[in-house]
Amino acid sequence: MHALDWNRSWVRFALVALTCLGASACSQQPVAEFSYNAAVAELPELHQNDIKEGLRRLFGTSVAPRLRAVDPETPEPEEGEEWTLIDIGDEHSLKRGAAVYNARCAGCHGVTGDGAGPAGEHLRPRPRDYRKGVFKFTSTPFGMKPARHDLVRTIRRGAKGTSMPGFPWMSEADLNDVIDYVIYLSQRGEVEEYVTRMAQDEYDEGDNIDFLEFVDALALTRERWESAEDNVVLPLTAKPHYTEDSITEGRRIFLKEGCAKCHGVDGKGQVEWLNPEFLAAQDALPEDQREQINYDAWDEPAPAADLTARLLHGGRRPIDIYRRIYTGINGTPMPAFEALFASKPDEIWHVVHYVQHIIEGGDPLAGIPSLPPAEVVAPVAEPDSDPDADESADAGDEAEDAAAEEESTQAEDLSDDQASADDNTTDSAESADSNASEASDDDASDSDASGDTSGEASEKPVEEPEPVGVEA
Ligand code: HEC
Ligand code: HEC
Repeated sequence: MHALDWNRSWVRFALVALTCLGASACSQQPVAEFSYNAAVAELPELHQNDIKEGLRRLFGTSVAPRLRAVDPETPEPEEGEEWTLIDIGDEHSLKRGAAVYNARCAGCHGVTGDGAGPAGEHLRPRPRDYRKGVFKFTSTPFGMKPARHDLVRTIRRGAKGTSMPGFPWMSEADLNDVIDYVIYLSQRGEVEEYVTRMAQDEYDEGDNIDFLEFVDALALTRERWESAEDNVVLPLTAKPHYTEDSITEGRRIFLKEGCAKCHGVDGKGQVEWLNPEFLAAQDALPEDQREQINYDAWDEPAPAADLTARLLHGGRRPIDIYRRIYTGINGTPMPAFEALFASKPDEIWHVVHYVQHIIEGGDPLAGIPSLPPAEVVAPVAEPDSDPDADESADAGDEAEDAAAEEESTQAEDLSDDQASADDNTTDSAESADSNASEASDDDASDSDASGDTSGEASEKPVEEPEPVGVEA
């Protein structure tokens, strides 16, 4: 098996080298092929082949990516014939996206988008495995896909406090193509997972998997991506001023509504879960004495964020924090508090202010009212719930500002630290000071990012991983 792969790699390498002879633009290394979900290898060979063939027909290959669907104009094929397919994705843009992706992203995220690139193995949090179709930093309700502008933002600015670098210098065209490609990889992964499950549960060993399973699964995931665009969460009420009173109120709510159960009374979260020694010590304990460790959708320990590290992965603008609380963080134990705050929408903003107070270096404990942490378990919104976006129509200037900010150009996107400082405009001299210091120490604190990042963490785009080649 190994020898065979090795041989094939060499054949491919030789082929590419030959094709490249004389072509001056051909400096790129050959790209590794897509791999398959581990569960595929457990299926009977017939099903494995059907899955590989079905995926190839709809999605092409890593070298020639395509996005196809059944042509609605042509009739059902005769026995032994195949469905006629048409392109629903732009072949050229996918190919350009693949080139950008394989050069800049695959080292961490893997050629297949499985988060298992050679540079990604030891990073915590791990580079996103797109195949689950789950994204954390969304402006959309809990359980939904990200809107396109969410991906623009994540890729432009990176995820502070993680190894996900920002790509502020990337051309608009490359950014668009690479986003299409990330979405494509995600859709391919979701179709693969769905069809694998169908094969496990619904198909007898000797029966071929119906190609329409692939087609339907792709149509479904594409619908979900499309509907995310119309479901952006806007604040229910206008943001009040950032004042001591609001922060204190936020702190009270933080304790009362169960945030402290995960993030701690001191906001330090559960980062010890990232420490292998801590985990080993836990394993050694009798089961009933172990701390209950939560895992994320990618089967990694998922500690509540240490807010005092002052690095919010999903952005530090008030609207970002609002959305993390309101819609939760997909794929992680951070719940959506939409339902809890539905009847008291102002309270979210107070909690936002308390979080801001902490990430600006304020003492999480100072003046904490002596309330016992509540036993309340945070409610989780229904995955497809859709808060009425129209409600924000009369939510006042701040809400509109926030919306406008979302719509903002890339230049504004990058200045979110500034934006957050502006938004904090306050009557309180103390917090004005902390705002002033924020801009300068933000970068400094990013570079030696705390606890949950690897030592390799680089916010700066200069340190790019090697393109993934045959030898990788
Ligand atoms: C040095 C490693 C590294 C490189 C290079 C890298 N990423 Fe990431 N990326 C990560 C990590 C780590 C995360 C997970 C962050 C988290 O979970 O908070 C991530 C997360 C993401 C996400 C998920 C955001 C979400 O809402 O869940 C997207 C999309 C993404 N990266 C796109 C890209 C693209 C596109 C490129 C190339 C242009 C790229 N990344 C390059 C490490 C990397
Ligand atoms: C069940 C445990 C749990 C509860 C309850 C909880 N959180 Fe979290 N929270 C998490 C986890 C886990 C993460 C890290 C998610 C990730 O992997 O990015 C997180 C992350 C965050 C972040 C960081 C977002 C970012 O951009 O990095 C903020 C802010 C936050 N929570 C605020 C709150 C607030 C406010 C409350 C209460 C209203 C709350 N959390 C309740 C588990 C919880």
